[in-house]
Amino acid sequence: MPYRHIAVEPLTPTIGATVHGVDLGAPLSEAAFREIHDAWMEHCVLFFRDQAMTPEQHLAFGRRFGPLHIHPAAPYAHGNPELMVIETNRDSKRNNGSAWHSDVSADEEPPLGTILHLHEVPPQGGDTLWANMYAAYEALSPSLQALLERLTAQHAADYTGVYGDHPPQREFPRAVHPVVRTHPVTRRKALFVNSSFTKRIQELSVHESRDLLDFLFEHVKHPAFQCRFHWGAGSVAMWDNRCTQHLAVWDYHPDTRRGLRVTVQGDRPFLEAGADTSTAGARVHTATEAAEAAGG
Ligand code: SIN
Repeated sequence: MPYRHIAVEPLTPTIGATVHGVDLGAPLSEAAFREIHDAWMEHCVLFFRDQAMTPEQHLAFGRRFGPLHIHPAAPYAHGNPELMVIETNRDSKRNNGSAWHSDVSADEEPPLGTILHLHEVPPQGGDTLWANMYAAYEALSPSLQALLERLTAQHAADYTGVYGDHPPQREFPRAVHPVVRTHPVTRRKALFVNSSFTKRIQELSVHESRDLLDFLFEHVKHPAFQCRFHWGAGSVAMWDNRCTQHLAVWDYHPDTRRGLRVTVQGDRPFLEAGADTSTAGARVHTATEAAEAAGG
């Protein structure tokens, strides 16, 4: 897709792109914002390097995509629960996001996207991996796709002890979601199960559910669906939780990795009957096209 206001450099053919020529701390024109949204829908995860955003600018950028989401239990900065702290240091007992997950998928309306700005990075390591759940779905045989489209899964999150003695913001979430979901913008189908929060497929016996989920959790980890990002201080990553999952590697103890995360509220996952993914790339609805069609 041609871009006029930003430069987009894909990281892999399947997922991830670096965006150049944008200062997220400065006011963004509507045209540049629309292109960032289009590139996000096209590549699922975007990266921006050397960004000097303040927390207020970070919040303002997030709000352009919609109202902000509040994590059920994570610590936050500046007295604002919309500004989640991501920090792992010498004293940490665990690292946030070390297992494959889509953020807070156990919410009834899981966040549509997440924007993470790292302020301090370790001298080596601390990469994050993302996997493309459209590609994971599309790689399955049509018979298995058809079965999965008839299934729903229970998601549950238990953050007890995960964030030390930081008190939770709200009750730990539970929800039932389709195993395959339709992305509300691109209309493509994506697998929507993850090993951190998906507990049980409702329509199957316990054993069948366990085996099928184990198969899917392995399947989504195939390197062909992935990209891996090496952070620098000031890097920003924004990922679409509706069509990706991710994992943060903790290989840098005792060094510190820290930053702030802003998360955008999403809607209830749904599966659109009969939607066809075979021309999915051509059917990606872009904000720019919509605005141009409307004369904008
Ligand atoms: C997260 O899951 O939000 C953490 C991702 C990261 O630290 O790279």
